Amino acid sequence: MRLILLGPPGAGKGTQCKRIIERYKAAHLSSGDILRAERKAGSDLGQKAQSFMDSGGLVPDDVIIGMMIGAMTRQAGGYVLDGFPRTTVQGQELDKALASAGEKIDAIVNLQIDDAVIEPRMTGRRSCPVCGAVYHIENLKPKVDGQCDKGCGELVQRPDDKPEVVENRLKIYHEQTAEVVGYYESTGATIININADQDIDKVSADVIEQLDKLDA
Ligand code: AP5
Repeated sequence: MRLILLGPPGAGKGTQCKRIIERYKAAHLSSGDILRAERKAGSDLGQKAQSFMDSGGLVPDDVIIGMMIGAMTRQAGGYVLDGFPRTTVQGQELDKALASAGEKIDAIVNLQIDDAVIEPRMTGRRSCPVCGAVYHIENLKPKVDGQCDKGCGELVQRPDDKPEVVENRLKIYHEQTAEVVGYYESTGATIININADQDIDKVSADVIEQLDKLDA
């Protein structure tokens, strides 16, 4: 199965992706995770992305498109795209690349949620810098406060989860990313709208109920 997961920052894309890829045996291709890995490795790409990410802005389209299409072409089986495309131009370039490879996306899962609910999700998120596991100080607590359950050590707050950056990420989402749903409506793609303002298990159940129908 090939899917795109859309939704504002903090909507729960990463959280739901982990469950989707387990069930449908697909790869998780997260543009944010790939960029963070490039930064950690100190690559040219990571250095180019750094200032955009830290301010909550978007990394330029040409950098992202090459990076994500490269990651997709290395996948033999299914995948879930998380965080890409994030502009209409990225969506158009993705469609061109898929068409030239004779492939198509089966569905777009669109997580819908209000900004007021998202803000505390992002400011309360804590991540493991070693294994990438994601927790929340209230909604998804680690067994020991501030420590990764897998024994990796201390959890950290992503620099872009600080309140002032969160505000800018939401602004950028509404200005540049929300329109991607409209782009896919105009192409006649299958769009599955999901209410993401529910507990994590209920959101997963709703997503899986819809995806199972496609997979049948
Ligand atoms: P990226 O890492 O993609 O960030 P994002 O899209 O802003 O998404 P997040 O990772 O913040 O949130 P999420 O929706 O995955 O939520 P999560 O599941 O973690 O991108 C980071 C940056 O990279 C961008 O700002 C940009 O600079 C750059 N970038 C990336 N892609 C790009 C692109 N295509 N073009 C240009 N630039 C790009 O959940 C959040 C928290 O809420 C967690 O703590 C979780 O435990 C909790 N939670 C999740 N679901 C629920 C629920 N149902 N109820 C309660 N709590 C929940």
